[in-house]
Amino acid sequence: MLASGTGTNLQALLDDARVGSHVTLVLSDRAGSGALKRAEDRGIKAVHLDPAGYPDRQAYDLALLDLLHPEADLVCLAGFMRILSPPVVRAFAGRMVNVHPSLLPAFPGAHAVTDALAWGVRVTGVTVHMVDEEVDHGPILLQEAVTVEEGDDQASLHARIQAVEHRLYPRAVGLLVEGRVRVDGRVVRLTEGP
Ligand code: GRF
Repeated sequence: MLASGTGTNLQALLDDARVGSHVTLVLSDRAGSGALKRAEDRGIKAVHLDPAGYPDRQAYDLALLDLLHPEADLVCLAGFMRILSPPVVRAFAGRMVNVHPSLLPAFPGAHAVTDALAWGVRVTGVTVHMVDEEVDHGPILLQEAVTVEEGDDQASLHARIQAVEHRLYPRAVGLLVEGRVRVDGRVVRLTEGP
């Protein structure tokens, strides 16, 4: 798992019966991120990979690949605030997934919640998608709408979006772990079992 922030999505994955035991490594570009703390609390390997220790993005991403390669079958992103270079994305093609706080393709990027509010949309939501070489762009596994309420601000809307993320992301990762995802171009076919 790659995360820079508070790690609530990591927590939702850890707490999920299908998915939790599969989380073996949490990696963050930020020291003291909540995600690292949550991993440590569970006894899961937690690594701070500090960008300051590398001359450029290529060197950083090579180090990231070295850490991921031996053990990661699937790489989950949640609020990882670095754009991954093509070699990393290609190494995990079809095996890298992200959760994003809007209904993509609306509002990609790091400010999806404030962008949705500024646009005045009445409905936004959550997208879980495969990662490809463009930001917030890959094939979509799951989406769910969240209504924008009168008087919403960034914090109130993001809180309702996150409540949906914490349900949707474990479901999507569970489908991947169980081999129930087929990607056909942009279209993802899911077989949800009993
Ligand atoms: C989530 O809202 C996710 O959609 C976005 O970054 C946030 C990460 O939150 N990409 P957390 O660190 O999992 O709490």
